[in-house]
Amino acid sequence: MIQFAAPCLFGLEAPLAEELRALGARDVNAENGRVLFSGDEATLARANIRCRFAERIEVVIGSFEAHTFDQLFEHTKSYHWEQWIGKTDAFPVKGYSLNSDLHSVRDCQAIIKKAIVQELKEKYGLSWFEETGCVYQVSFSILKNRVTLMLDTSGVGLHKRGYRPANNAAPIKETLAAALCSFARLQGYHTLYDPMCGSGTIAIEGALLANNIAPGKNRTFAAQKWRQIPSGVWLREKEAAIADEKPSSEFRCFASDVDRRSVELASGNARRAEMDRYIRFCAADIRDFRPNSEKGTVIVNPPYGERLADEKTARELSRVMGALFERRPGWSYNIITADEDFEKVFGRRADKRRKLYNGMIKCQYYMYYK
Ligand SMILES: C[S@@+](CC[C@H](N)C(=O)[O-])C[C@H]1O[C@@H](n2cnc3c(N)ncnc32)[C@H](O)[C@@H]1O
Repeated sequence: MIQFAAPCLFGLEAPLAEELRALGARDVNAENGRVLFSGDEATLARANIRCRFAERIEVVIGSFEAHTFDQLFEHTKSYHWEQWIGKTDAFPVKGYSLNSDLHSVRDCQAIIKKAIVQELKEKYGLSWFEETGCVYQVSFSILKNRVTLMLDTSGVGLHKRGYRPANNAAPIKETLAAALCSFARLQGYHTLYDPMCGSGTIAIEGALLANNIAPGKNRTFAAQKWRQIPSGVWLREKEAAIADEKPSSEFRCFASDVDRRSVELASGNARRAEMDRYIRFCAADIRDFRPNSEKGTVIVNPPYGERLADEKTARELSRVMGALFERRPGWSYNIITADEDFEKVFGRRADKRRKLYNGMIKCQYYMYYK
């Protein structure tokens, strides 16, 4: 049994834990900003390919308390690193420390590297490591003096699905966009609207979710090169993910933005994600938003007035939305914004609110569905 950690954005721990349980992970335990779980090699591959809400999947090598560099060195050295890292493999070290006695990340990094080198020297009888083989990125977290040592299996962060090379001014992270769709209970028979779509992330993640398409289907992962995970495992897991797709004949998405260039970028992204058949893009001002379907799920990430528009324009857009998003059976409206006075300006109290982080910006997700 392998122990894993899946870091995620704050606020996404619960959906990630639920997702991991549904993927067959064992001992799933949500903490602040990450979910711990256990499983085997297949779990590792499956989580990388299918998790919508995790930032990466890491193998947990060990966890211990340390207040001094000596303790950090001795504990780190006590693990069987040779079970993972081969004689020629690269093992760079990175991490972070919060509220701990060992607060110098650079020093911790150097001590951990030194301890692993020492352990491998003894195991392999080598005095020098060329580090030209495959990469086993060592990562550490130190939280309130509790050190966790991990190996990153994902490589490029899992939010990078591979469809969004061309970024817009303020794109939302793919993992957060997927979570917004999941919180809004988006289904394959729904019609999704994003009238301020920017680079189209919400529309694309919505289409992937509604059709049960694995977000990591078209990308590769660091651990695909690891000898501990036979290539057949990756192949089988990719095939299983594809077999589980549920293409919907009903799902449609309408995405628009006032900025023509954004719409072009978004259509390119949707094509690369192979979701373009579900999404109709057009350039339009939200003021002209007049959806003509009977039912709809609106998910929108308006400018906050911090990064794009000024605060006054952002407020004006909230007022516009309040007037347009009228209570109607079969309709739900879901808005993520950093504006703490949003409900006042929008004109109604949300039926449900969730605290989320969009990058470093503290936000609320306001959901109207009654
Ligand atoms: C925060 S960004 C959305 C980012 C998007 N979720 C993404 O992932 O790229 C807000 C978007 O609202 C658009 N916008 C601003 N005013 C608008 C208006 N009046 N009508 C429609 N779109 C507008 C901007 O052009 C921008 O693309």
